[in-house]
Amino acid sequence: MASVPIERVARLTLEDKVRLLTGRTGWILHGNADAGLLPITVSDGPAGVRGTEATQDEHSASTPSPTAVAAAWDPELMERVGRFFAAEARRKDVDVVLAPVLNLHRSPVGGRHFECFSEDPLLTAELGAAFVRSLQSEGVGACPKHFIGNETERERTAYRSRIDERTLREVYLPPFQAVVDAGAWMVMAAYNGVDDGSEAASMTDHRGLLTGLLKGELGFDGVVCSDWTAARSTASSANAGTDLVMPGPDGPWGEALVAAVRSGEVPESVIDDKVARLLLLAERVGKLDRVTSPAVEGEDERVLLREVGSRGHVLLRNEGGVLPIAAERVRSVALIGPNAVDAYTQGGGSAHVNSEYLVSPAEGLSEALPDDVELTLVRGGDPRRHLPVVADQRLTGIALTLLDAAGAKVEGPEIAGGALHAGAPKEAVCAVLDAELTLTEPGTHHVEIAAVGRHTSRMDGEVVSESAAQASVDDILESRHSHPDAPRVGIEVAEGAPRTLRIRVEMEVGDFGGFGRAVIAQLRHQPPGMTVEEEIQEAVRAAEAADVAVVVVGTNDEVESEGYDRPTLDLPGSQDELVRRVSSANPNTVVVVNAGAPVLLPWLDEVPAVLWSWFGGHEYGHALADTLTGRSEPTGRLPWTLPRDHDDVPIMDTRPVGGVITYEEGVFVGHRAYDRDGVEPHRPFGFGLGYTDWEVTGAALAADSLVAETLVDGLAPEPVTVTATLTNTGARPGRHVVQVYVEPPAEGGPTRPVRSLAAFASVRAVPGEEVTVSLEVPPRSLAVWDPAAQSWRTPEGTYHLAVGSSSRAIAHRLRFDVR
Ligand code: BGC
Repeated sequence: MASVPIERVARLTLEDKVRLLTGRTGWILHGNADAGLLPITVSDGPAGVRGTEATQDEHSASTPSPTAVAAAWDPELMERVGRFFAAEARRKDVDVVLAPVLNLHRSPVGGRHFECFSEDPLLTAELGAAFVRSLQSEGVGACPKHFIGNETERERTAYRSRIDERTLREVYLPPFQAVVDAGAWMVMAAYNGVDDGSEAASMTDHRGLLTGLLKGELGFDGVVCSDWTAARSTASSANAGTDLVMPGPDGPWGEALVAAVRSGEVPESVIDDKVARLLLLAERVGKLDRVTSPAVEGEDERVLLREVGSRGHVLLRNEGGVLPIAAERVRSVALIGPNAVDAYTQGGGSAHVNSEYLVSPAEGLSEALPDDVELTLVRGGDPRRHLPVVADQRLTGIALTLLDAAGAKVEGPEIAGGALHAGAPKEAVCAVLDAELTLTEPGTHHVEIAAVGRHTSRMDGEVVSESAAQASVDDILESRHSHPDAPRVGIEVAEGAPRTLRIRVEMEVGDFGGFGRAVIAQLRHQPPGMTVEEEIQEAVRAAEAADVAVVVVGTNDEVESEGYDRPTLDLPGSQDELVRRVSSANPNTVVVVNAGAPVLLPWLDEVPAVLWSWFGGHEYGHALADTLTGRSEPTGRLPWTLPRDHDDVPIMDTRPVGGVITYEEGVFVGHRAYDRDGVEPHRPFGFGLGYTDWEVTGAALAADSLVAETLVDGLAPEPVTVTATLTNTGARPGRHVVQVYVEPPAEGGPTRPVRSLAAFASVRAVPGEEVTVSLEVPPRSLAVWDPAAQSWRTPEGTYHLAVGSSSRAIAHRLRFDVR
């Protein structure tokens, strides 16, 4: 354990000490002059540094989502991203970034899939460690999350993940172990509980995993903070190893914890250890005695984020060289699709940041294409469930009145616009929202008046929606506040007879627990317009008239978010139909998928080119145009398996059963399940084309055997070194990711995956160049966890190290014996 300024702890009273262990606000911790502790500021992560309440409106760089960065399979690139995060954090006076997310893609439907790196433990571990190392090398703390078993969003504060010990050790723990080894200064304990066979408790109360495993066995010397509002107990969470309860200022500790210490339920030494950890964190981030945080020089934001965006793009198909678009031969481009008009560049939930600008696909492409190329933009249908928030110019007389329990007015915030999320003081118990909505265009308008919590909405005095469901913290945790449901009302407007509707919503001021009190409502509206079918017909006409059609399809903020998992992997709305009809209308059709997590692409092998472009952050349009026009190469490889069909997905249903999610697939996560079941993925884990061609021309092993007697604690004493030779056989300089998978002996020891990722390297070469790279297979990749012996064991037998370009494209198999 790193040196802890323990004498400083002794200067504090019990009350002082306990006060430090709950946040002062949602994002800022308490300081204490006697201990020399200055307030430490934390901020979300992991797709940008959002900042604190005071700076919410400030510009935050919106980076490509973690999955997008992970797709580059390049720890060096991740280190550059980590340093960029450090510069952003410093710029915003943030000391600790609540990232990276190390939970795995156990199921493609997981709502926070876009925030995680991969379905694979090794890839996640290497990238997570790279991020932590580089962020912290600049004096900004990382807070890897959510420890552990938080692969599902449904009922996330309540369910218990039942994970057997071997699976925990071999699959879900390695990423956390890697960041602890990389020196992480903070770790966030998850909302969910875990039953690991020895103890079943909520993670903030899990003594075995927090104190025994994380702090004890792995030697974590930093601060364990609770996920926001996750800690609910007093003595039990304190004794289990949670060090910091967030957010503040309220929570289950405070006076109750002081009393628990006084009664002997919690030893004071437990409190001292927490304070010492906090002081060590302060020292590490430069907040002890005086501010010593170093300035951080980040790379140029626009250049870096644009480069990172392209580096993660995964080319899934490219027949006849449709991509890159040869700008000099093209006279017209039809840019089509709901996500071409309204790109989804960051997922929903706590990872969301307010960026200053967003480069749309149309802006990116029109900058990249020569001036005389005609670019048409057509939506091709709206896939959303809810109407858009009403345009500002239609709203007049918008006013929010807050009332106390006696019906007297309470001072409240100024509001504007149709999306209302207004904080309210304690004494305000209900609110009245008034507005006038003007509808001018003749035809049928649609209106939705949505509110969170108990409410009655009226239009021109008539009740249009009512709810008796009380607002609660779950509305935030399950992200219902982002898209409150509301009935859709049709309003006819006759030619020359505009209408102004009087809207009034009487509603409660929601009490969202640790997330504060607020009034949340949305006024949504859609003017008369084309039907989806008419929009698709318009898109087909645009495609027919253009040399190239680029169709951008994808998810949106109703589909991919923290707080809920997806019920289906289908693209929302009629986007599959749109793709099929546009690609039959134009043989030069390129489909761009703008999604953070797998969606089914039933037309994947029917259209000429398909590019997976992720959530690209605020430079999305530039990065996309760079890839489409060939200024950059899409160098991404899938960090997860793309299923062909719902039936092929190993884990489709993530609903807890009786409050429990059993990880019954054990170690067979992601591609390991496809391999076990002999199912052909639509595109395998590790797959990705580029703009050049590659051949893995050779592979060799430094040694061909390992003698069991030389094992140390059941593990090989050294990594096994594989040398791979790759040749760029195409016509452009490019990059390739060479991958090494361990294929264990079929017999001897427990059932193991056919193939597991053990090493990878991102390699660059010019045409004709041959590059040799050395890859190290870590000893644990050969071993299994033996629960009976409580140790690692490398079963004897014949192993193969499979070297190739994806989990299904193996070029060389190197035999290796353990005897
Ligand atoms: C999320 C965390 C996040 C925290 C603070 C929680 O709901 O699970 O990932 O860091 O909120 O926003």
